[in-house]
Amino acid sequence: MYTLPSFVHHIPAQRLPDLLQRMPKAELHMHIEGSLEPELMFAMAARNGVALPYPSVQALREAYVFDNLQSFLDVYHAGTLVLKTEQDFYDMTSAYLARAQADQVLHTEIFFDTQTHTGHGLSAEVVINGLHRACIDAPARFGMTASLILCFLRHLSEAEAFESLEQALPLRDKILGIGLASSEVGHPPEKFARVFARARELGFRLVAHAGEEGPPAYIWSALDVLKVERIDHGVRAIEDAALMQRLVQDRVPLTVCPLSNLKLRVVDTLAQHHLQRLLDAGVMATVNSDDPAYFGGYLTENFSQTFAALPMTAAHAYALARNSFDASFIDEGARRGHVAQLDAVFESFA
Ligand code: ADE
Ligand code: ZN
Repeated sequence: MYTLPSFVHHIPAQRLPDLLQRMPKAELHMHIEGSLEPELMFAMAARNGVALPYPSVQALREAYVFDNLQSFLDVYHAGTLVLKTEQDFYDMTSAYLARAQADQVLHTEIFFDTQTHTGHGLSAEVVINGLHRACIDAPARFGMTASLILCFLRHLSEAEAFESLEQALPLRDKILGIGLASSEVGHPPEKFARVFARARELGFRLVAHAGEEGPPAYIWSALDVLKVERIDHGVRAIEDAALMQRLVQDRVPLTVCPLSNLKLRVVDTLAQHHLQRLLDAGVMATVNSDDPAYFGGYLTENFSQTFAALPMTAAHAYALARNSFDASFIDEGARRGHVAQLDAVFESFA
């Protein structure tokens, strides 16, 4: 745990919106296929000869109204059909990194999956090489670092997750960690116990989506069965006092995604979001954009809208930015450098 620098208390409330934009951040929960904007989707459809079931960019954007996670995943999956070449994966990632740079993101850990794309006849190699080349170019092009987390799709079988892991192994050095995404309810973490154990033996960092729509029991089993280091979403932890205590005691990071929770109707309004309650209880929460092209905002927009809806202060902003670096998988030297930059920006606002 860190001590809150005293200058944080001297920041006037009216400077908060500007501070949220200017403060350095890390993003730890963003699915790269969820950053594919309609304009780029149409451009890729044209260059790859793919027909989209929408007449225009505007019609596609207007279709982005969801009832729950599954209704989103169906639309999201349709959007991935335009991705065909290594260059497509490079371009999609570069477009996200440019947006992240504009939001003062210094480091990002990007989720992707290969199962969606191998299901469309692409090789895992095309996917991973395109994404990785964009990550390698990120420091020179966008002044930031980026690494990759391969998610298994939990609506598919354990055997298919093992197959996805096998296919990635020749490219092992290009992947930092393993995660678990897609339809949560009915697909508990236990289903993937053996493949996560194997990933752990192989030295991958481990994370999993849990407690987005699924119950607190899924957060417990992500921690105790899969042995993950971070929980993605995890907002339903608030329903379980013993779990809250565990998260605080073990400093388990939650990668919370407020606009996603709003658009997928996990909460009715941002004013009802549990982010502030989680932070005030001592949980190491972070803010992230999940699928920004679909949910109406990139990282700073997630901060701005959430702070506009809740009575959060500069101390909460500091906690969220600081947690994003402390919860990331970067090395200690880089982490300290980022925290020094964070402190300098906060001090300049005091
Ligand atoms: N894949 C992309 N976005 C997701 C989310 N919010 N939950 C689960 N899987 C996802
Ligand atoms: Zn997610």
